[in-house]
Amino acid sequence: MTTLTARVAARMRALDDGGLLRTLRAPSGVDLSSNDYLGLANHPYVTQRMSEAVAREGAGSTGSRLLRGNRDSFGALERRFARLKGTERSLYFSSGYLANLAVLTTFPEPGDVILSDERNHASLIDGIRLSSARREIFPHNDVAAVRRALDATRPAGQRFVVVESLFSMDGDEAPLKQYAELCRASGAHLIVDEAHAVGIYGVKGSGLIEAHGLEEDVFLSVNTAGKALGVSGAFVAGGAWAIDYLVQRGRPFIFSTAPPPSIAAALDASLDIVEREPRRRAAVLERALALRGRLRAAGVPLPDGTSQIIPVLLGDNGAAVAVADALQSVGFDVRAIRPPTVPPGTARLRISVNVNLTDELMERFVTALATALVACSASPVGVAQPS
Ligand SMILES: Cc1ncc(COP(=O)(O)O)c(C=O)c1O
Repeated sequence: MTTLTARVAARMRALDDGGLLRTLRAPSGVDLSSNDYLGLANHPYVTQRMSEAVAREGAGSTGSRLLRGNRDSFGALERRFARLKGTERSLYFSSGYLANLAVLTTFPEPGDVILSDERNHASLIDGIRLSSARREIFPHNDVAAVRRALDATRPAGQRFVVVESLFSMDGDEAPLKQYAELCRASGAHLIVDEAHAVGIYGVKGSGLIEAHGLEEDVFLSVNTAGKALGVSGAFVAGGAWAIDYLVQRGRPFIFSTAPPPSIAAALDASLDIVEREPRRRAAVLERALALRGRLRAAGVPLPDGTSQIIPVLLGDNGAAVAVADALQSVGFDVRAIRPPTVPPGTARLRISVNVNLTDELMERFVTALATALVACSASPVGVAQPS
Protein backbone atom coordinates (compact mmCIF):
# COMPACT_ATOMS: atom_id res chain seq x y z
CA MET A 1 0.00 0.00 0.00
CA THR A 2 1.30 3.50 -0.81
CA THR A 3 2.05 5.68 2.17
CA LEU A 4 0.33 9.05 2.54
CA THR A 5 3.64 10.85 2.01
CA ALA A 6 4.29 8.93 -1.22
CA ARG A 7 0.76 9.64 -2.45
CA VAL A 8 1.06 13.35 -1.70
CA ALA A 9 4.50 13.46 -3.34
CA ALA A 10 2.97 11.92 -6.50
CA ARG A 11 0.15 14.48 -6.44
CA MET A 12 2.66 17.31 -6.06
CA ARG A 13 4.73 15.97 -8.98
CA ALA A 14 1.58 15.82 -11.13
CA LEU A 15 0.82 19.45 -10.27
CA ASP A 16 4.37 20.43 -11.15
CA ASP A 17 4.29 18.49 -14.43
CA GLY A 18 1.01 20.19 -15.37
CA GLY A 19 2.40 23.68 -14.65
CA LEU A 20 -0.02 23.93 -11.74
CA LEU A 21 2.25 24.22 -8.73
CA ARG A 22 1.56 27.41 -6.78
CA THR A 23 3.98 29.48 -4.71
CA LEU A 24 3.25 31.98 -1.98
CA ARG A 25 4.68 35.37 -2.85
CA ALA A 26 4.51 38.65 -0.99
CA PRO A 27 3.31 41.71 -2.91
CA SER A 28 6.04 43.59 -4.74
CA GLY A 29 6.05 46.14 -7.53
CA VAL A 30 3.14 48.03 -9.08
CA ASP A 31 -0.17 46.54 -7.96
CA LEU A 32 -1.97 45.05 -10.96
CA SER A 33 -3.32 41.99 -9.19
CA SER A 34 -5.02 42.92 -5.92
CA ASN A 35 -8.74 43.52 -5.48
CA ASP A 36 -8.08 46.79 -3.64
CA TYR A 37 -9.74 48.62 -6.51
CA LEU A 38 -10.52 51.82 -4.59
CA GLY A 39 -7.16 51.94 -2.81
CA LEU A 40 -8.79 51.73 0.62
CA ALA A 41 -6.65 49.00 2.24
CA ASN A 42 -3.96 51.58 3.05
CA HIS A 43 -6.13 54.68 3.19
CA PRO A 44 -5.03 56.72 6.24
CA TYR A 45 -8.62 57.36 7.38
CA VAL A 46 -9.46 53.64 7.27
CA THR A 47 -6.25 52.51 9.00
CA GLN A 48 -6.57 55.23 11.65
CA ARG A 49 -10.16 54.29 12.49
CA MET A 50 -9.07 50.65 12.67
CA SER A 51 -6.14 51.28 15.01
CA GLU A 52 -8.22 53.52 17.26
CA ALA A 53 -10.73 50.69 17.55
CA VAL A 54 -8.00 48.18 18.42
CA ALA A 55 -6.80 50.48 21.21
CA ARG A 56 -10.36 50.93 22.46
CA GLU A 57 -11.83 47.45 21.98
CA GLY A 58 -8.88 45.04 21.88
CA ALA A 59 -7.47 42.70 19.28
CA GLY A 60 -10.10 39.97 19.24
CA SER A 61 -13.82 39.57 19.69
CA THR A 62 -13.47 36.59 22.12
CA GLY A 63 -16.42 34.54 20.93
CA SER A 64 -19.10 33.81 18.39
CA ARG A 65 -21.60 36.59 17.58
CA LEU A 66 -24.31 34.55 19.34
CA LEU A 67 -22.16 34.38 22.48
CA ARG A 68 -19.80 37.07 23.84
CA GLY A 69 -18.35 38.02 20.44
CA ASN A 70 -21.15 40.39 19.42
CA ARG A 71 -20.67 44.19 19.45
CA ASP A 72 -23.09 47.05 18.81
CA SER A 73 -20.67 48.22 16.11
CA PHE A 74 -21.41 45.09 14.03
CA GLY A 75 -25.16 45.76 14.21
CA ALA A 76 -24.70 49.44 13.30
CA LEU A 77 -22.48 48.48 10.37
CA GLU A 78 -24.98 45.90 9.12
CA ARG A 79 -27.81 48.44 9.27
CA ARG A 80 -25.68 50.93 7.38
CA PHE A 81 -24.74 48.40 4.72
CA ALA A 82 -28.39 47.37 4.27
CA ARG A 83 -29.32 51.04 3.70
CA LEU A 84 -26.58 51.33 1.09
CA LYS A 85 -27.76 48.13 -0.59
CA GLY A 86 -31.45 49.05 -0.46
CA THR A 87 -32.44 45.95 1.53
CA GLU A 88 -34.16 45.50 4.87
CA ARG A 89 -31.20 43.88 6.53
CA SER A 90 -27.67 42.61 6.16
CA LEU A 91 -25.45 40.21 8.08
CA TYR A 92 -21.67 40.40 8.28
CA PHE A 93 -19.52 37.28 7.87
CA SER A 94 -15.79 36.93 8.42
CA SER A 95 -15.20 36.06 4.76
CA GLY A 96 -17.01 35.95 1.44
CA TYR A 97 -16.24 32.25 1.22
CA LEU A 98 -18.09 31.61 4.47
CA ALA A 99 -20.94 33.93 3.49
CA ASN A 100 -21.52 31.93 0.29
CA LEU A 101 -21.33 28.66 2.20
CA ALA A 102 -23.85 29.97 4.72
CA VAL A 103 -26.36 31.16 2.11
CA LEU A 104 -26.18 27.99 0.04
CA THR A 105 -26.33 25.54 2.93
CA THR A 106 -29.09 27.36 4.81
CA PHE A 107 -31.84 27.97 2.26
CA PRO A 108 -31.81 25.16 -0.33
CA GLU A 109 -33.26 21.92 1.04
CA PRO A 110 -33.69 18.39 -0.37
CA GLY A 111 -36.09 18.51 -3.33
CA ASP A 112 -34.90 22.01 -4.33
CA VAL A 113 -32.86 22.81 -7.45
CA ILE A 114 -29.92 25.20 -7.74
CA LEU A 115 -29.00 26.53 -11.20
CA SER A 116 -25.41 27.71 -11.20
CA ASP A 117 -23.29 29.47 -13.84
CA GLU A 118 -20.34 27.27 -14.90
CA ARG A 119 -17.90 30.12 -14.14
CA ASN A 120 -19.11 30.73 -10.59
CA HIS A 121 -16.48 31.21 -7.90
CA ALA A 122 -15.22 28.22 -5.92
CA SER A 123 -16.98 29.47 -2.78
CA LEU A 124 -20.33 29.29 -4.61
CA ILE A 125 -19.46 25.88 -6.05
CA ASP A 126 -18.47 24.57 -2.62
CA GLY A 127 -21.60 25.99 -1.01
CA ILE A 128 -23.72 24.29 -3.67
CA ARG A 129 -21.85 21.01 -3.20
CA LEU A 130 -22.47 21.16 0.53
CA SER A 131 -26.14 22.00 0.12
CA SER A 132 -28.71 19.26 -0.02
CA ALA A 133 -30.39 20.49 -3.22
CA ARG A 134 -29.91 19.09 -6.70
CA ARG A 135 -27.53 21.19 -8.80
CA GLU A 136 -27.60 22.04 -12.49
CA ILE A 137 -24.69 23.86 -14.06
CA PHE A 138 -25.54 26.09 -17.01
CA PRO A 139 -23.17 27.53 -19.66
CA HIS A 140 -21.67 30.88 -18.79
CA ASN A 141 -24.16 33.76 -19.04
CA ASP A 142 -26.58 31.60 -21.05
CA VAL A 143 -30.03 33.09 -20.42
CA ALA A 144 -31.74 30.63 -22.78
CA ALA A 145 -30.26 27.70 -20.84
CA VAL A 146 -31.58 29.13 -17.57
CA ARG A 147 -35.02 29.63 -19.14
CA ARG A 148 -35.02 26.04 -20.41
CA ALA A 149 -33.90 24.69 -17.04
CA LEU A 150 -36.60 26.68 -15.20
CA ASP A 151 -39.25 25.48 -17.65
CA ALA A 152 -38.07 21.89 -17.28
CA THR A 153 -37.79 21.85 -13.50
CA ARG A 154 -41.02 22.31 -11.63
CA PRO A 155 -40.09 20.67 -8.40
CA ALA A 156 -42.30 20.61 -5.38
CA GLY A 157 -39.47 22.50 -3.74
CA GLN A 158 -37.80 25.84 -4.44
CA ARG A 159 -35.54 26.89 -7.30
CA PHE A 160 -32.47 29.10 -6.95
CA VAL A 161 -30.42 30.81 -9.67
CA VAL A 162 -26.87 31.58 -8.52
CA VAL A 163 -24.51 33.93 -10.36
CA GLU A 164 -21.77 36.49 -9.88
CA SER A 165 -22.76 39.96 -11.04
CA LEU A 166 -19.21 40.65 -12.25
CA PHE A 167 -17.25 37.48 -12.87
CA SER A 168 -14.01 37.46 -10.93
CA MET A 169 -11.71 35.91 -13.52
CA ASP A 170 -13.37 37.05 -16.75
CA GLY A 171 -14.36 40.57 -15.79
CA ASP A 172 -17.66 40.30 -17.65
CA GLU A 173 -21.14 41.02 -16.30
CA ALA A 174 -23.99 38.56 -15.82
CA PRO A 175 -27.22 39.38 -17.69
CA LEU A 176 -28.84 40.19 -14.33
CA LYS A 177 -31.92 41.88 -15.78
CA GLN A 178 -32.86 38.82 -17.80
CA TYR A 179 -32.26 36.50 -14.86
CA ALA A 180 -34.41 38.77 -12.70
CA GLU A 181 -37.25 38.59 -15.24
CA LEU A 182 -37.00 34.81 -15.45
CA CYS A 183 -36.95 34.44 -11.67
CA ARG A 184 -39.88 36.82 -11.26
CA ALA A 185 -41.92 34.90 -13.84
CA SER A 186 -41.08 31.46 -12.47
CA GLY A 187 -40.95 32.13 -8.73
CA ALA A 188 -37.26 31.16 -8.58
CA HIS A 189 -34.91 32.95 -6.17
CA LEU A 190 -31.97 34.92 -7.51
CA ILE A 191 -28.74 34.83 -5.47
CA VAL A 192 -26.09 37.28 -6.65
CA ASP A 193 -22.45 37.38 -5.61
CA GLU A 194 -21.42 41.02 -5.90
CA ALA A 195 -17.82 40.41 -4.72
CA HIS A 196 -16.21 42.44 -7.50
CA ALA A 197 -19.03 44.92 -8.10
CA VAL A 198 -19.71 46.30 -4.63
CA GLY A 199 -18.00 49.67 -4.12
CA ILE A 200 -17.57 50.13 -7.87
CA TYR A 201 -20.95 50.14 -9.64
CA GLY A 202 -24.16 52.05 -9.09
CA VAL A 203 -24.77 55.69 -8.19
CA LYS A 204 -24.36 54.86 -4.50
CA GLY A 205 -21.57 52.40 -5.22
CA SER A 206 -23.49 49.42 -3.87
CA GLY A 207 -22.98 47.23 -6.96
CA LEU A 208 -24.55 46.05 -10.18
CA ILE A 209 -27.90 45.17 -8.58
CA GLU A 210 -28.28 48.87 -7.83
CA ALA A 211 -26.90 49.89 -11.24
CA HIS A 212 -29.67 47.85 -12.92
CA GLY A 213 -32.39 48.79 -10.40
CA LEU A 214 -32.95 45.17 -9.37
CA GLU A 215 -33.08 45.55 -5.59
CA GLU A 216 -36.61 44.10 -5.49
CA ASP A 217 -35.72 41.10 -7.65
CA VAL A 218 -32.76 39.67 -5.80
CA PHE A 219 -33.38 37.23 -2.98
CA LEU A 220 -29.93 37.61 -1.41
CA SER A 221 -26.69 39.26 -2.44
CA VAL A 222 -23.23 38.49 -1.11
CA ASN A 223 -20.94 41.52 -0.92
CA THR A 224 -17.33 40.97 0.00
CA ALA A 225 -15.60 43.58 2.12
CA GLY A 226 -12.01 42.52 1.38
CA LYS A 227 -11.97 43.75 -2.20
CA ALA A 228 -13.10 47.28 -3.14
CA LEU A 229 -13.92 48.01 0.51
CA GLY A 230 -10.29 47.25 1.37
CA VAL A 231 -10.79 45.36 4.65
CA SER A 232 -12.16 41.80 4.93
CA GLY A 233 -15.34 39.77 5.39
CA ALA A 234 -18.64 40.00 3.54
CA PHE A 235 -22.21 41.24 3.94
CA VAL A 236 -25.16 39.09 2.98
CA ALA A 237 -28.00 41.50 2.18
CA GLY A 238 -31.71 40.77 1.79
CA GLY A 239 -35.09 40.69 3.49
CA ALA A 240 -35.42 40.67 7.29
CA TRP A 241 -37.03 37.20 7.29
CA ALA A 242 -34.08 35.70 5.39
CA ILE A 243 -31.39 37.40 7.46
CA ASP A 244 -33.15 36.41 10.72
CA TYR A 245 -33.11 32.80 9.52
CA LEU A 246 -29.40 33.00 8.62
CA VAL A 247 -28.63 34.10 12.18
CA GLN A 248 -30.46 31.00 13.44
CA ARG A 249 -29.22 28.46 10.91
CA GLY A 250 -26.14 29.76 9.06
CA ARG A 251 -23.47 27.41 10.40
CA PRO A 252 -20.46 29.48 9.22
CA PHE A 253 -21.98 32.43 11.13
CA ILE A 254 -22.86 30.52 14.27
CA PHE A 255 -19.87 28.23 14.72
CA SER A 256 -17.05 30.70 14.18
CA THR A 257 -15.47 33.41 16.31
CA ALA A 258 -16.76 36.87 15.43
CA PRO A 259 -14.29 39.04 13.49
CA PRO A 260 -12.22 41.52 15.53
CA PRO A 261 -14.32 44.58 16.45
CA SER A 262 -11.74 46.85 14.77
CA ILE A 263 -12.89 45.45 11.42
CA ALA A 264 -16.29 47.05 11.96
CA ALA A 265 -14.62 50.43 12.54
CA ALA A 266 -12.45 50.04 9.44
CA LEU A 267 -15.45 49.09 7.30
CA ASP A 268 -17.49 51.98 8.63
CA ALA A 269 -14.64 54.23 7.48
CA SER A 270 -14.55 52.54 4.05
CA LEU A 271 -18.29 53.08 3.65
CA ASP A 272 -17.80 56.76 4.56
CA ILE A 273 -15.37 57.03 1.66
CA VAL A 274 -17.60 55.10 -0.75
CA GLU A 275 -20.44 57.48 0.16
CA ARG A 276 -18.43 60.72 0.05
CA GLU A 277 -16.16 60.04 -2.90
CA PRO A 278 -18.12 58.74 -5.91
CA ARG A 279 -15.28 60.08 -8.05
CA ARG A 280 -13.04 57.29 -6.78
CA ARG A 281 -15.17 54.50 -8.31
CA ALA A 282 -15.72 56.43 -11.53
CA ALA A 283 -11.95 56.82 -11.81
CA VAL A 284 -11.41 53.05 -11.48
CA LEU A 285 -13.69 52.36 -14.44
CA GLU A 286 -12.14 55.20 -16.48
CA ARG A 287 -8.65 53.82 -15.76
CA ALA A 288 -9.84 50.35 -16.77
CA LEU A 289 -11.21 51.61 -20.10
CA ALA A 290 -7.98 53.49 -20.74
CA LEU A 291 -5.86 50.39 -20.05
CA ARG A 292 -8.10 48.20 -22.21
CA GLY A 293 -7.68 50.75 -25.05
CA ARG A 294 -3.90 50.85 -24.67
CA LEU A 295 -3.61 47.06 -24.58
CA ARG A 296 -5.71 46.65 -27.71
CA ALA A 297 -3.72 49.39 -29.46
CA ALA A 298 -0.55 47.44 -28.63
CA GLY A 299 -2.04 44.38 -30.34
CA VAL A 300 -3.13 42.48 -27.21
CA PRO A 301 -6.57 40.95 -27.90
CA LEU A 302 -8.99 41.12 -24.98
CA PRO A 303 -12.38 39.53 -24.39
CA ASP A 304 -15.32 41.96 -24.49
CA GLY A 305 -15.98 43.88 -21.33
CA THR A 306 -15.50 47.26 -19.68
CA SER A 307 -14.78 46.38 -16.07
CA GLN A 308 -11.73 46.81 -13.87
CA ILE A 309 -10.87 43.11 -14.27
CA ILE A 310 -8.97 42.54 -17.52
CA PRO A 311 -8.09 38.97 -18.51
CA VAL A 312 -5.23 38.38 -20.94
CA LEU A 313 -5.91 34.84 -22.11
CA LEU A 314 -2.82 32.77 -22.82
CA GLY A 315 -4.24 29.25 -22.70
CA ASP A 316 -1.14 27.37 -21.64
CA ASN A 317 -0.34 27.19 -17.91
CA GLY A 318 3.43 27.44 -18.40
CA ALA A 319 3.09 30.44 -20.71
CA ALA A 320 0.89 32.29 -18.21
CA VAL A 321 3.43 31.70 -15.42
CA ALA A 322 6.38 32.66 -17.61
CA VAL A 323 4.78 35.95 -18.69
CA ALA A 324 3.73 36.77 -15.11
CA ASP A 325 7.28 36.04 -13.89
CA ALA A 326 8.76 38.25 -16.60
CA LEU A 327 6.44 41.10 -15.59
CA GLN A 328 7.22 40.66 -11.91
CA SER A 329 10.94 40.78 -12.65
CA VAL A 330 10.51 44.27 -14.11
CA GLY A 331 8.37 45.58 -11.24
CA PHE A 332 4.75 44.78 -12.19
CA ASP A 333 2.79 42.60 -9.79
CA VAL A 334 0.73 40.54 -12.23
CA ARG A 335 -0.25 36.97 -11.34
CA ALA A 336 -0.98 33.94 -13.49
CA ILE A 337 -4.41 32.36 -13.01
CA ARG A 338 -4.58 28.65 -13.79
CA PRO A 339 -7.03 25.76 -13.42
CA PRO A 340 -8.97 24.92 -11.36
CA THR A 341 -9.57 28.66 -10.81
CA VAL A 342 -10.32 28.89 -14.56
CA PRO A 343 -11.27 26.14 -17.03
CA PRO A 344 -8.42 23.96 -18.43
CA GLY A 345 -6.79 25.55 -21.47
CA THR A 346 -7.71 29.11 -20.43
CA ALA A 347 -4.80 30.09 -18.17
CA ARG A 348 -4.44 33.81 -18.11
CA LEU A 349 -3.05 36.94 -16.60
CA ARG A 350 -5.72 38.61 -14.51
CA ILE A 351 -4.97 42.31 -14.58
CA SER A 352 -6.93 44.29 -12.05
CA VAL A 353 -7.07 48.04 -12.24
CA ASN A 354 -7.05 50.21 -9.15
CA VAL A 355 -7.53 53.92 -8.68
CA ASN A 356 -3.77 54.53 -8.26
CA LEU A 357 -2.83 53.33 -11.74
CA THR A 358 -1.47 56.41 -13.52
CA ASP A 359 -1.13 56.99 -17.28
CA GLU A 360 2.62 56.77 -16.99
CA LEU A 361 2.47 53.40 -15.19
CA MET A 362 -0.01 52.11 -17.77
CA GLU A 363 2.27 53.07 -20.62
CA ARG A 364 5.26 51.36 -19.00
CA PHE A 365 3.17 48.31 -18.22
CA VAL A 366 1.85 47.88 -21.77
CA THR A 367 5.42 48.07 -23.12
CA ALA A 368 6.59 45.54 -20.52
CA LEU A 369 3.74 43.18 -21.36
CA ALA A 370 4.42 43.36 -25.11
CA THR A 371 8.11 42.61 -24.45
CA ALA A 372 7.29 39.72 -22.10
CA LEU A 373 4.88 38.17 -24.61
CA VAL A 374 7.54 38.18 -27.32
CA ALA A 375 10.27 36.91 -24.94
CA CYS A 376 8.03 34.04 -23.80
CA SER A 377 6.67 33.31 -27.32
CA ALA A 378 3.16 33.66 -25.89
CA SER A 379 0.18 34.80 -27.96
CA PRO A 380 -2.96 36.01 -26.22
CA VAL A 381 -6.38 35.20 -27.66
CA GLY A 382 -9.54 37.27 -27.41
CA VAL A 383 -11.97 34.56 -26.41
CA ALA A 384 -11.69 31.84 -23.75
CA GLN A 385 -11.78 28.43 -25.42
CA PRO A 386 -11.65 25.76 -22.72
CA SER A 387 -9.81 22.60 -23.74
C1 LIG B 1 -16.79 36.03 -6.71
C2 LIG B 1 -16.19 35.81 -5.37
N1 LIG B 1 -16.99 35.37 -4.38
C3 LIG B 1 -16.52 35.14 -3.15
C4 LIG B 1 -15.19 35.31 -2.85
C5 LIG B 1 -14.69 34.99 -1.49
O1 LIG B 1 -14.55 36.15 -0.73
P1 LIG B 1 -13.46 36.20 0.43
O2 LIG B 1 -12.14 36.39 -0.23
O3 LIG B 1 -13.90 37.33 1.29
O4 LIG B 1 -13.53 34.89 1.16
C6 LIG B 1 -14.33 35.80 -3.85
C7 LIG B 1 -12.91 36.08 -3.54
O5 LIG B 1 -11.99 35.41 -3.79
C8 LIG B 1 -14.83 36.03 -5.14
O6 LIG B 1 -14.04 36.43 -6.13
